[in-house]
Amino acid sequence: MSEVLLSAKNLTKRFGGLAAVNDVSIDLMRGRIHAVIGPNGAGKSTLTNLLSGDLPPTSGSVLLGGQDITGWSPEKISARGLGRSYQKTNIFLPFTVWENVRLASQSRQPNAFKWFHRATDFSAINARAASAIELSGLKDRVHSVAATISHGEQRQLEIAMTLATQPQVLMLDEPLAGMGAQEAERMIELLHLLKKDHAMLLVEHDMDAVFSLADQLTVMVNGQVIASGTPAQIRLDAGVQAAYLGEDIGEENA
Ligand SMILES: Nc1ncnc2c1ncn2[C@@H]1O[C@H](COP(=O)(O)OP(=O)(O)OP(=O)(O)O)[C@@H](O)[C@H]1O
Ligand SMILES: [Mg+2]
Repeated sequence: MSEVLLSAKNLTKRFGGLAAVNDVSIDLMRGRIHAVIGPNGAGKSTLTNLLSGDLPPTSGSVLLGGQDITGWSPEKISARGLGRSYQKTNIFLPFTVWENVRLASQSRQPNAFKWFHRATDFSAINARAASAIELSGLKDRVHSVAATISHGEQRQLEIAMTLATQPQVLMLDEPLAGMGAQEAERMIELLHLLKKDHAMLLVEHDMDAVFSLADQLTVMVNGQVIASGTPAQIRLDAGVQAAYLGEDIGEENA
């Protein structure tokens, strides 16, 4: 249960004079959801970008499966087993659910963009795509054009695309953003399901969802970690209350 899959040590990212991420360390373990919370501009998305290789850190290091991946490209890191979704959607709206997920699956194939493929490559690509669609609950939508499915289903589709790359570490940036209550409930169920086999990093503003899902919480403000611990510890943390949570967060889902 407690196998550390990803370990970030003393990560700092400066944009000119601004330290968007300032000396942040975080561990992600298989079977656990680690939520990163904090107000707008705290540095949550920047942190995920440092872990996924979308941005190089100014200093600090990232280990994935014990290997130092600092400075690697996002493609190489993804091939090593880190999958992520983005705060802004990344799907091809004119394509069907199947086409979107199949493309994501194909990107995982060695020599993905060569002209010739063996038939076995195709069946592996298709099998990965089909199982990602099934797992993310989109089986009934497989032939729908992405632009025509609901907002919640589009977020499920992003997760299906990420799962098609067969990640060990899953990082989700605001998967519940803009969802209605029912859609959010379905997504929370899906995240519960995915937690079993993955190490997960969850960036999310919905505190009820965060406190019901997370095993571990890191609270960021102005690029810095102001608290880290279990949901129970964070709920009681006076500094977190003052800086971010306010007085009535998450109790009902304790
Ligand atoms: N590419 C960039 N260049 C310059 N500044 C940036 C860049 N990306 C982020 N920032 C700044 O870094 C800080 C942290 O931004 P970040 O997007 O990581 O915050 P966040 O915690 O994800 O916020 P939100 O909850 O609104 O998504 C902000 O002040 C932001 O303006
Ligand atoms: Mg963000």
